[in-house]
Amino acid sequence: MADGEKDSFYLATPIYYVNDAPHIGHAYTTTAGDVATRWRRQRGEQVWFLTGVDEHGTKVQRAADAGGVSPQQWVDRLVGDAWLPVLGTIDAANDDFIRTTEPRHVERVQRFWEVVRANGYVYDSVYEGPYCVGCEEFKFPGDLVDGTGEYAGQQVCPVHGRPVDQLQEQNWFFRLSAFQDRLIAHYEADPDAIQPRSAYNEVMSFIRHGLVDISMSRSSVSWGIPLPWDPEQVVYVWFDALLNYATAVGYGAEPGTPDAQRFAEVWPPDVNLVGKDILRFHAVYWPAMLMAAGELPPRKVFAHGWLLVGGEKMSKSKLTGIAPEQIIDHFGSDAFRYYFLRSIQFGQDGSFSWEDMSARYTAELANGLGNLASRATAMVARYCDGVLPAAHDFGPAEGAIADGLAAAAAAADLAIGDLDFSAGITSVKDFVEQVNGYVTEQEPWVLAKDPASAERLNVVLYTVCDALRGIAVLYNPVMPKAMASLWDQLGAHATLGPLADQRIADVGRWAQLPAGTAVTKGAALFPRLDEVE
Ligand code: ME8
Ligand code: MG
Repeated sequence: MADGEKDSFYLATPIYYVNDAPHIGHAYTTTAGDVATRWRRQRGEQVWFLTGVDEHGTKVQRAADAGGVSPQQWVDRLVGDAWLPVLGTIDAANDDFIRTTEPRHVERVQRFWEVVRANGYVYDSVYEGPYCVGCEEFKFPGDLVDGTGEYAGQQVCPVHGRPVDQLQEQNWFFRLSAFQDRLIAHYEADPDAIQPRSAYNEVMSFIRHGLVDISMSRSSVSWGIPLPWDPEQVVYVWFDALLNYATAVGYGAEPGTPDAQRFAEVWPPDVNLVGKDILRFHAVYWPAMLMAAGELPPRKVFAHGWLLVGGEKMSKSKLTGIAPEQIIDHFGSDAFRYYFLRSIQFGQDGSFSWEDMSARYTAELANGLGNLASRATAMVARYCDGVLPAAHDFGPAEGAIADGLAAAAAAADLAIGDLDFSAGITSVKDFVEQVNGYVTEQEPWVLAKDPASAERLNVVLYTVCDALRGIAVLYNPVMPKAMASLWDQLGAHATLGPLADQRIADVGRWAQLPAGTAVTKGAALFPRLDEVE
């Protein structure tokens, strides 16, 4: 396929360090990636959604040492007990999960660096300078800040607030400086390749400031991937981890194998979704590595903001993490997904508050959408024996609902296609409010009292149900469990087929639910919080 053309949409999250269990910051990125990719599937696109874990490096090694087990035992246990289960907890539909200790990754990382070395971009030299194990990053002296509290008088990492290691190592270096002009040209030609705009500006200023060569190996670390040409050293953990996006989809696989086929189909990544803490790695080092190997760089790096605790980034190392189960056991995975993507503008920082989440859950989910669905299905049960009535003569009020649905679908598609989850969800939520307003105005319970308004009652009930049909499709990527239940309650599966097969582009076509469908009032989509406790 020609450069830049492909049929698939490939999105990857960062691979998270398994020094400890996941918190809602990690779940946030994976949820965002999951909603973005479920949305693309709902459009009918070919999608590949990758997530995984970063298992090598000093940080994981030290955590294992502290836990009194080998690094391999440590990562096996945490991945099995925590990192894999959290995907089920948040209801992620990833296509693959990569671990950097897997042979497929190890072999292909080695192959990649052989290629880059053969291309003349690797040489040996001495690294001398600060290194932050929390960041797993070589720092420039200017990156450090004055410590406070127990570290007063020392220079510390601005992210972790702790002193750094002073390294002096014989290392292999990656000739990053050779890519300064190419990176600038690449990003000037495609300013949307880094989003949001603040991230673009930050990266461009970093690159323009001048790129210096960087160690691609570590000689004093043993927990990593040995360099094929110097097995005494391991690949620097970032230059191992970033490659997961390529190795997991078949970079370096034997030609003719399914893995090689996948690489040809999905490369390059359409979106590398990351937190802003790791923007530089993804928008500078990663594309430069790919250029050095003769591969296409990612089309977009999107750096979202941080979940904050007390104004600071929630973090494993500061023990400020909230486990996703703590929230999901109470509110459910759908509400978790909805809340974090709706209440924080993607790209900005945000804080979690139990009160805010409870308030939105009650107003928007339980009283808003949940109540609409239960009123509609209950009225069809009561007034029409559970059979969706035929509607004749849609009037202006129904026309406004039909138009509202088409407009919400178009707006949500545009927004979520651009990773503006909050705007996308808000357009659907506003439509839910419009339909609730329609029910209040039309007063079907009054129409039901007068046999002369039977036709009008049918029109109103039909309209609400077909509006819910559209809402189920639009919210399916965000709240798959509740929407599967709504789809069943509408009897839509039997007549329109699986929810997953409904296309976003077709949502706005009015009156798709066939009359005669069996509508049932099922369990509440969003139980009231006092009922779940
Ligand atoms: O950096 N708010 O792993 P990591 C929002 N292994 N997102 C957060 C967050 C917060 N408070 N805390 C973490 C690494 N995240 C490397 C990545 S990729 C080749 C290697 C999310 O365990 C966010 O996506 O420190 C952030 O970038 C990532 O977890 C960092 O996870
Ligand atoms: Mg981190």
